[in-house]
Amino acid sequence: MSSWFVYHKRMDSRLSISTSIFYPNAEPHLGHALELVQTDFLARYYRKQGRSVFFQTGLDEHGRKIEKTATAAGLSPEDFVDQQQEVFKKLVEVLSISPDRFIRTTDADHLAVAQALWSHCLETGDIYKKTYRAWYNIKEEEFVANADEVTDPSSLNIESRFLELIEEENYFFRLSKYADQVISLIKSDQYVIVPAGRKEEILNFASQGLQDISISREKKKLAWGVPVPNDPDQVMYVWFDALTNYLTGLTKLENDGSITPNKFWPYDLHCVGKDIARFHALIWPAMLLSAGLQPPKKLLVHGFIMIDGRKMSKSLGNVIDPFTVQQELGGDALRWFLLARIPTTGDGDFTLQRFHDVYSSDLANDFGNLVSRVMTMARNYTGGVPDVDPLNLENLEQVLIEEAWQGYHQKVADLEIDAALMLAQQMVVFANRRIEELKPWVLAKDETKRSQLEELLYELLEIIRQVANMYEPALPVTIQSLRTSLFAELSDDEFSQEAWGGLRPGMSIPDQNFQLFPRLLS
Ligand code: MSP
Repeated sequence: MSSWFVYHKRMDSRLSISTSIFYPNAEPHLGHALELVQTDFLARYYRKQGRSVFFQTGLDEHGRKIEKTATAAGLSPEDFVDQQQEVFKKLVEVLSISPDRFIRTTDADHLAVAQALWSHCLETGDIYKKTYRAWYNIKEEEFVANADEVTDPSSLNIESRFLELIEEENYFFRLSKYADQVISLIKSDQYVIVPAGRKEEILNFASQGLQDISISREKKKLAWGVPVPNDPDQVMYVWFDALTNYLTGLTKLENDGSITPNKFWPYDLHCVGKDIARFHALIWPAMLLSAGLQPPKKLLVHGFIMIDGRKMSKSLGNVIDPFTVQQELGGDALRWFLLARIPTTGDGDFTLQRFHDVYSSDLANDFGNLVSRVMTMARNYTGGVPDVDPLNLENLEQVLIEEAWQGYHQKVADLEIDAALMLAQQMVVFANRRIEELKPWVLAKDETKRSQLEELLYELLEIIRQVANMYEPALPVTIQSLRTSLFAELSDDEFSQEAWGGLRPGMSIPDQNFQLFPRLLS
């Protein structure tokens, strides 16, 4: 085997994946939950595939919004973010999110890496200072127009209370210098943007030209930020602080200030919402190129959770608290809804009614009911997992499962998580239909139908094992409870093998009647 091959195989077995980092200026909402569960699904899926995964999520703790909200709450920004991070960590916990690092941009190592990256770009000549007059949107924390070009701010369509005219000396990053390089990375899919429609949108935007961007603020106007190296009057503003979080998690800083990313670099996948896709697609790779670091490989852009057709957001006052929803039906139920019933890259509506309907149909009636009825029948009719030769059965189920796996893996590779889960769900629907058609309770009364009954129950239990594996990255708590009950006697390899027949013939079925997803009383 050539060394190239060994190297390549090793590279392939690693995967780095991240969410964006959330602003903790308000409580977490369902949009944050969506991004967390999508990313967590992928992290769990790839771990299950034997890849060594590094998964990062966290908080974007600096900036004007945080400073203002803290002041309004009578707290220092430090105390405010310390308090808020607890709530976001709680969300990570109740949704069974499995990050390897929860980064906070106030972490000491992040400050050092952000400053080091800045210094590298400065050395390359890509950071310069100039006086700037611009309209600034304090709500979105962005410069919206050059004030020399736009003299009448009402043309900007932004509420005047959110607009400030800013005139100050700022540092700028030479984004324009990297425009062609970044466009070509995206066009050639060296940096893949999913879905294709977003890639087009971003390329269209970039083809109109990329301006250099302001990357610092005067310290007297914004104190709450990472200090610009060697300039006590300026702090970093947004990009060099926030985007750099991804580098911090994978980097060792040498004593001489050089940045040595670890084996997980470059980033395989960033998962972000459509409102911040552009920054990740265009600015982030440019910053890395400037510092001589490899750009990321893929960007997954999700849509928005909508309420009655409108984006769920604090400013519209229609935010749904993920804790309330989770407490009602459990973290797995919410994960399922967000993963399977919101299109991975599209917008999706959330209403409590819809959440209840999906819970009842997909989880309680389809999957939960299948597990409970098959366990009961196997216990009562065959005293456990039927003692048949799994490879010697009529092979319809086997063929369907093999097809389902193929489709499932393909859909996950295409980052269509909802479609992958629907393929698994179809196997559940098929199994329930099989029960209705073949009526095991009738077969059980007829001794001459014994082998038919045994085959059927084996097949149904084996489908449950297979589907449990497909569902595991989506429903970790539920599947763990099946793993330690119905499948307790199986080794890890037997439980997780994709080949038909992992379920051991003759195995006992625990004597407990459990409802994975209790029915709702309507
Ligand atoms: N802090 C910045 C990101 C910096 S990344 C280097 C930020 N924070 S945010 O809290 O406003 O948004 C975090 C993520 O939540 C974004 O990816 C955003 O798209 C997502 N969502 C915010 N509202 C959303 C919905 N209503 N629905 C789905 N996700 C949405 O932007």
